[in-house]
Amino acid sequence: ALTPRVLSGIQPTADSFHLGNYLGALRQWVAMQDTHDAFYCVVDLHAITIEHDPAVLRRRTLVAAAQLFAMGLDPDRATVFVQSHVPEHTELAWVLGCLTGFGEAGRMTQFKDKSSKQGTSGTSVGLFTYPILQAADILLYSPEPGEGERALRVPVGEDQRQHLELTRTLAQRFNHRFGDTFVLPEAHIPPGAAKITDLQEPDAKMSKSASSPQGIIDVLEEPGPMRKKIMRAVTDTGSEVVYDEEKKAGVTNLLRIFSALDGASVPDLEKRYAGSGYGQFKKDLAQVVLDTFAPIRKRTLTLLDDEWHLDELLRRGSDRASEVAARTMETVRERVGF
Ligand code: ADP
Ligand code: NA
Repeated sequence: ALTPRVLSGIQPTADSFHLGNYLGALRQWVAMQDTHDAFYCVVDLHAITIEHDPAVLRRRTLVAAAQLFAMGLDPDRATVFVQSHVPEHTELAWVLGCLTGFGEAGRMTQFKDKSSKQGTSGTSVGLFTYPILQAADILLYSPEPGEGERALRVPVGEDQRQHLELTRTLAQRFNHRFGDTFVLPEAHIPPGAAKITDLQEPDAKMSKSASSPQGIIDVLEEPGPMRKKIMRAVTDTGSEVVYDEEKKAGVTNLLRIFSALDGASVPDLEKRYAGSGYGQFKKDLAQVVLDTFAPIRKRTLTLLDDEWHLDELLRRGSDRASEVAARTMETVRERVGF
């Protein structure tokens, strides 16, 4: 059987990725480049569904791409590109949008959450049709029928399951109406993905939209502040380093981070820090986090210093992505009657 294909995207909506993005998604992207025919895109089209500043978007798109390469994505092993560089994404989204029921789109719970926060006047039609663009992002890279039983995998967290379900529905609907065209994408839970919580509010997930920057570790953060944030992470009043999701959510989150980055199992860490209190544990954890992110930060800054080279890496990605996307769209156009 052919190597399975994997497709994933990430928005350039922050000045840096954070530890949650790294341990919950991006580290797995890097691992999967060796086991999959991987397509990873910086989804800048998705980033304009909310109000944005053009210069900031352009900068964040570059910084996002630089971080992906700095984390170890290799243009020889993975196709890394910027979504807007491949115009077929929007073309297929239009076709799929015409196959989507209005009510069907209205049932997307993520839209309901986001739009209720912003109010209807602050909510764009783009935010409403976002899941359809996401379906296009995936189905454009559908393996061709001649490629046999090749799978199309999409790493998904709980919040994206409904969107992937819609993608499958739209693929099936297209196939039914116009003939077999799309392989149905499968949800893929990559091994080792960890859910990371906020350092100050251990019951909330670490997120770029957190209430305080003290709760988030940014990949590109300077060593000093990074260390401080970990030393000041919320723990409970006890002093034992033990894993207990209910009673010790803060310490449990730190153990999870430590274990994910260092490779030591949680029971081994509990043993290592038995009786030594939180201080030493946090100090060592800060070092592990720094050792992981300092080289990534350095490589990111080097890449950003040479924009010509970075553009070149991204052009290689969009060339490869365009080959596949153009082939898919040729079939789609023909089947739809263009
Ligand atoms: P944010 O929550 O900061 O807005 P995104 O929603 O843009 O982040 O998520 C980008 C990717 O990072 C997704 O694959 C998501 O599942 C993953 N991710 C985000 N936050 C975390 C977290 N705290 N723990 C694990 N994975 C996360
Ligand atoms: Na690969």
